[in-house]
Amino acid sequence: MIYKYNDIKTLHLEVTDKCNAACPMCARNINGGEDNPQLPEVELTRSDVEVMFPVEFVKQLDRMYMCGNYGDPIAAKDTLEIFQYFRDHNPKMTLSLHTNGSAKTTEWWTKLANVLGPKGYVVFSVDGLADTNHLYRQNTVFSKIMTNAQAFINAGGRARWDYIVFAHNEHQVAEAEALATSMKFEKFQFKKSARFFSNASGVTKEMHQAANRKGMTTLLQPPLILSIETAHYKNSVRLPVLKMKLSSCLVK
Ligand SMILES: C[S@@+](CC[C@H](N)C(=O)[O-])C[C@H]1O[C@@H](n2cnc3c(N)ncnc32)[C@H](O)[C@@H]1O
Ligand code: SF4
Repeated sequence: MIYKYNDIKTLHLEVTDKCNAACPMCARNINGGEDNPQLPEVELTRSDVEVMFPVEFVKQLDRMYMCGNYGDPIAAKDTLEIFQYFRDHNPKMTLSLHTNGSAKTTEWWTKLANVLGPKGYVVFSVDGLADTNHLYRQNTVFSKIMTNAQAFINAGGRARWDYIVFAHNEHQVAEAEALATSMKFEKFQFKKSARFFSNASGVTKEMHQAANRKGMTTLLQPPLILSIETAHYKNSVRLPVLKMKLSSCLVK
């Protein structure tokens, strides 16, 4: 479908292809090791955005979100200033970002909460707890993520915790949800990854060969116990249903 300029209401802005993390199934790197050589490693400044999206265009939007395919918005210098530009010219639109949460200062996160306001939110992609999150979210520091998320929430920011379930973290889903509740995240959402799939052969893979920047390799696996349950509730927040089904599954 081809949209007319005036019909555009939602903008997905990839502010950078840079990232502080190295997730093994992310297209920005080769299985979590070397960076994808095709990436230019660039970022947009507030001035770039002002030229690309003039004030009249910002005014017509319902929503702008920063997620991206190759980078994390917290790896760019002007992310806060760019959100400020959109908010200044459109107080009603929804603003959001998806992030690993492991960069910037608590002051930055406090300011972000104020700029986004009640019509904005942050999705923290955190796949585990202190001893497991970094197994997929390589190079991130769990304590820093929690400190940043708490600063954002304490400043009035609305936060959601997205948790990709793997074999190495499936035993911690309920504990992570309890932590999310105690920190006052608005939502906790678990997801099963669709990336255990080989495009070359068109079949589901049992494992994914991961690497890190030191050249060490590990094997990632999809969830084992939860596999049937999470398939049904992919991208949902129905954890109580999951717990119920899981316990009935275990007693059989
Ligand atoms: C490239 S990331 C960019 C946003 C941000 N850096 C982040 O990770 O949230 C885009 C989305 O891909 C998701 N993602 C990363 N690895 C994934 C995987 N193995 N399966 C499914 N989604 C994945 C992230 O959680 C995020 O929602
Ligand atoms: S945090 Fe996001 S952008 Fe960064 S490597 Fe992981 S999935 Fe990719």
